[in-house]
Amino acid sequence: MTETVLVVPGDGIGQEVVPAAVEVLASVVDLEYVEAEAGDATEAATGEALPAETYRLATEADATLFGAAGETAADVILPLREAVGSFANLRPARAYPGVDALRPETDLVFVRENTEGVYAGIESEIAAGVTTLTRVVTEDASRRIAEYGFTYAEENGYASVTVAHKANVMRTTDGLFLETVRAVGDELGADYDEALMDALAMHLLLRPEEYGVVICPNLAGDVLSDLAAGLVGGLGLLPSANVGADNALFEPVHGTAPDIAGEGVANPTAAILSAAMLLEHLGYGEEATGVRRSVEAVLADGPHTPDLGGDATTTDVTAAVIDRLGD
Ligand code: NAI
Ligand code: MG
Repeated sequence: MTETVLVVPGDGIGQEVVPAAVEVLASVVDLEYVEAEAGDATEAATGEALPAETYRLATEADATLFGAAGETAADVILPLREAVGSFANLRPARAYPGVDALRPETDLVFVRENTEGVYAGIESEIAAGVTTLTRVVTEDASRRIAEYGFTYAEENGYASVTVAHKANVMRTTDGLFLETVRAVGDELGADYDEALMDALAMHLLLRPEEYGVVICPNLAGDVLSDLAAGLVGGLGLLPSANVGADNALFEPVHGTAPDIAGEGVANPTAAILSAAMLLEHLGYGEEATGVRRSVEAVLADGPHTPDLGGDATTTDVTAAVIDRLGD
């Protein structure tokens, strides 16, 4: 059976880098593509940033490839992650030969809890000038993210697993998170370290080579993975996956880049690497490796888009990636 991929380019450079990634996908496997709309332009045209039809198509597809949305990003991406039942946000951040990086030795993967914590959306204004937020941590979600993280590290050959937490202050919520991750680690016989998330931020900056997979609560994963983006040379390189039990959504970490949108010079690397993660998810591991190797070859030898100091276009880089698939 041919798998169906929902393609949602969204706004800005999403319209440029997502078609580039689909072109690469189409040159390695036969998939069926369905395209749908979401984002600022969709809201302007229809009154809704995420049409019900797009949501429905995401629940039905085998996987979704999303670009970016502008001001409506939260209205689009949060429901889309829910549509695919995502519980884990996987954010690899690695440096590549040929790309200027603050820490060229970085090879990190953040496995971020994606459904609760301080992003559970339970906020209130209890009196004028007084607001509160409820932090939700459950044993079920902590167990799921731990199992996913330890298994990911094992399957992908990462020797180091670190659990980020702040259980010394958030004793009940991160206490439960940490206790649950420890239990899962012990059940699986996994080797891991624990780190207070604030101290970890400093250690990641100073000695990223000592870390591999980092299992994090929601907010910590968001912040630490952006810090890691700074270590490896920029947003144009970072892919991500929102993984559910039997569906998933893949997207570059970057946004719509309004400063360069429409110029044809967006770096398609993050979107193409997101497509490689999609291939892996659908069971095309060999093809995914092929795409990654080809991207690495182009990063090493060029052509490069302006964000990496070159003068190539999105189309030039995409053509080069496809050309080197055969190497
Ligand atoms: P951004 O990621 O769009 O851009 C930040 C900087 O990085 C800009 O200078 C941009 O030109 C550059 N950049 C990003 N991706 C690039 C690429 N592929 N190639 C070359 N350069 C690239 O973040 P910003 O400016 O904070 O947000 C712009 C819009 O995107 C906002 O409306 C924001 O809400 C939205 N956004 C959407 C996201 C999503 O849909 N998941 C995520 C982040 C932001
Ligand atoms: Mg973020």
